[in-house]
Amino acid sequence: SQRFRVLLLPGDGIGPEVVAAARRVADAAAARFGLTLEYEERRIGAAAIREEGAPVSKETLRRAGEADAVLLGAVGDPEFDGGEVRPEAGLLALRRELGTFANLRPVAAIPALSGSSPLRPGVAEGVDLLIVRELTGGAYFGEKEEGEERASDLSVYTRGEVERVARVAFEAARGRRGRVASVDKANVLATSRLWRRVVGEVARDYPDVALEHVLVDAAAMHLVTDPGRFDVILTENLFGDILSDEAAVLPGSMGMLPSASLGEPGSPGIFEPVHGSAPDIAGKGVANPYAAILSAAMMFRHGLGRPEAAEAIERGVEAAVAAGCLTPDLGGSSGTEEAAEAVARRVAAEEGAA
Ligand code: NAD
Ligand code: IPM
Ligand code: MN
Repeated sequence: SQRFRVLLLPGDGIGPEVVAAARRVADAAAARFGLTLEYEERRIGAAAIREEGAPVSKETLRRAGEADAVLLGAVGDPEFDGGEVRPEAGLLALRRELGTFANLRPVAAIPALSGSSPLRPGVAEGVDLLIVRELTGGAYFGEKEEGEERASDLSVYTRGEVERVARVAFEAARGRRGRVASVDKANVLATSRLWRRVVGEVARDYPDVALEHVLVDAAAMHLVTDPGRFDVILTENLFGDILSDEAAVLPGSMGMLPSASLGEPGSPGIFEPVHGSAPDIAGKGVANPYAAILSAAMMFRHGLGRPEAAEAIERGVEAAVAAGCLTPDLGGSSGTEEAAEAVARRVAAEEGAA
């Protein structure tokens, strides 16, 4: 059978809980489709600072580079807030090491969850959008200065960085509803003006895709008043971080948003929920595992080239949700493991159906 090496990086807070859930479901999908997943588990974030002295070790970065895919939970721990070494730096170093410049964050309204959205009924109905967030440039990775009286985060983008992520967005739009909304702040920022120009040039190679440019402040508003207007949203690192958390109000919880961080073809991707380590609910067994489980689905689709396994997992989540298997963030009383079991059972029970 086909074998894949998966590096598990559970990380901090609810990370280990949701990664265990994702692994449970990934194994069910692997069994059903005759694949073998070989796991290696390593530390990242606060867990790595405590045990290894750094938020991600060189050895872990090396092993990530050798894996077929990385399945990650979350990093971050209040214990290190304001400290010199930060857990989050481990994740940034990993993204940089693997060159994962394109972060795909799909957001879909799930009919059975329409009651979970804080928005007026109907606003989020039928929403199906994809945020393509540039992930290895901008203010996150520019030169930094951190003094007592002055600090700066330089935001830099090059033509090549904009072009390669724009192509990912246009290609994605081709397989969807054929629309790209490029989100920037071109009325103020020089990086945004370069962004807008380069995206416009790339668009000429995609005459079948409609491009619009939207300023980020207006986009933030449209996202919660008329989200149905969006198909693919293409944006820079920092804007994409903020807009994707905002988009969590559409399905109704951070616990529903998966992601795939992809680099050059052939290099391993990182598959991780959009949410963080949620220290407020960590260790209680109530974290919503669907975002991590759906990230495992994205791993099968984008990282391992097995879309049929991805689809089985996605159908499994939809069915579990429709059957009312909901964690507290969605208004239910199911636990993390119970939700994972509900999906795994459905993935396995589909045997022979497809
Ligand atoms: P968060 O996403 O961890 O939590 C925000 C809110 O959403 C909390 O109320 C939390 O309980 C809830 N929530 C998040 N995921 C949930 C889930 N799966 N099920 C149920 N509820 C869920 O954001 P935060 O509180 O701002 O950040 C906490 C820590 O996580 C910080 O250290 C931050 O740096 C880190 N962080 C890491 C990542 C990552 O690893 N990719 C992403 C975001 C934040
Ligand atoms: C995310 C997170 C990270 C980011 C942090 C933890 C570095 O918020 O994946 O969205 O800002 O990219
Ligand atoms: Mn974020």
